[in-house]
Amino acid sequence: MSGSVLVTGGAGFIGSTLARRLLAEGYDVVVLDNVVSGAVANVPDGCELIVGDVREASVLAALPKRDYVACCHLAAQSSGEVSFEDPRLDVTTNVIGTLNVLDWVLERGVGKVVFASSMGIYGDVPPDVPVAEDTLPHPKSFYSVSKLAVEHLLKLYETEYGLRFTAPRLFNVYGVGQDLDNLRQGMLSIYLSYLLDGERVLVKGSLDRYRDYVYVDDVVNVFVHAITAPELDGEIFNCGTGVQTHVSTLIEKLCACFGIDDYRSVVDQAPGTQGDQFGNFASVERMKELGVPVPATTLDEGLRRMVDWAKQVTLKR
Ligand SMILES: NC(=O)c1ccc[n+]([C@@H]2O[C@H](COP(=O)([O-])OP(=O)(O)OC[C@H]3O[C@@H](n4cnc5c(N)ncnc54)[C@H](O)[C@@H]3O)[C@@H](O)[C@H]2O)c1
Repeated sequence: MSGSVLVTGGAGFIGSTLARRLLAEGYDVVVLDNVVSGAVANVPDGCELIVGDVREASVLAALPKRDYVACCHLAAQSSGEVSFEDPRLDVTTNVIGTLNVLDWVLERGVGKVVFASSMGIYGDVPPDVPVAEDTLPHPKSFYSVSKLAVEHLLKLYETEYGLRFTAPRLFNVYGVGQDLDNLRQGMLSIYLSYLLDGERVLVKGSLDRYRDYVYVDDVVNVFVHAITAPELDGEIFNCGTGVQTHVSTLIEKLCACFGIDDYRSVVDQAPGTQGDQFGNFASVERMKELGVPVPATTLDEGLRRMVDWAKQVTLKR
């Protein structure tokens, strides 16, 4: 592949994994990130890193002049829990920051935007059935409100200004490279972090909650596919596996990786966090209809890769 791709949030977990893959595909990659939750060390060699803030339009205006075929926009305040502390941060970073990115895309004639939306837009949904894209959204956190607002902005920019975009709604992404020091984002990585440190696993909320855990490489596949798939222009769709996994099952599997037979013996429970959804998992029918590569890494395989990697990581927290 040729041409440049701007990856905002490319110093973060998913963005840095995506940047690495884009380099391998032959793209020239520019990363824009203010490294608040990401880290310079995450950015793969070969990328041009611009440390800067998407909230500053002048930062975008000063980005290197290239033949950008796409912008993968992942920069965000990315924690639902944290969004309750300072809703304005979510609005300025996730909404105003995105407006700046979209204006830059139009001004520079960038081919397309691929935006990391979230399953958080659904809120609480009927239990034990996969959630489809036409479900009425009921976001429960300021973070999820900001993601839904951006979906609407994308559609408006499409109809008013001809923007080309694709917006996968990511379910619970996990995998190699996730921040194990951050105990406020990424359910799976948080539990893993406790186990790595030999601590008891603090579960905020019910063990009966459930999620759709999607391996990061599968998410990256979807982003890379979307860049060169004109049939996905204007499409917003689920990016999950379609598999429902209860929190208890997840912890049981994680504990098994550490030789712990009875997961209940290491779990402490606390009340749930504000804005937490009880459960959801993706309907993958729309992905299939659109010819999107459906995430297929099993949780067992993904956990094996992640735990093998995590056991080599030195925690800083
Ligand atoms: N991880 C998941 O399960 C998940 C699920 C749904 C959606 N998403 C979305 O995917 C994207 C990536 O998530 P992640 O898990 O890699 O999170 P992350 O926190 O690791 O990555 C976000 C990156 O954005 C950067 N950033 C934050 N504010 C910025 C700003 N003002 N200007 C420039 N950069 C800024 C951070 O430094 C970080 O590197 C986010 O948009 C997130 O909302 C993630």
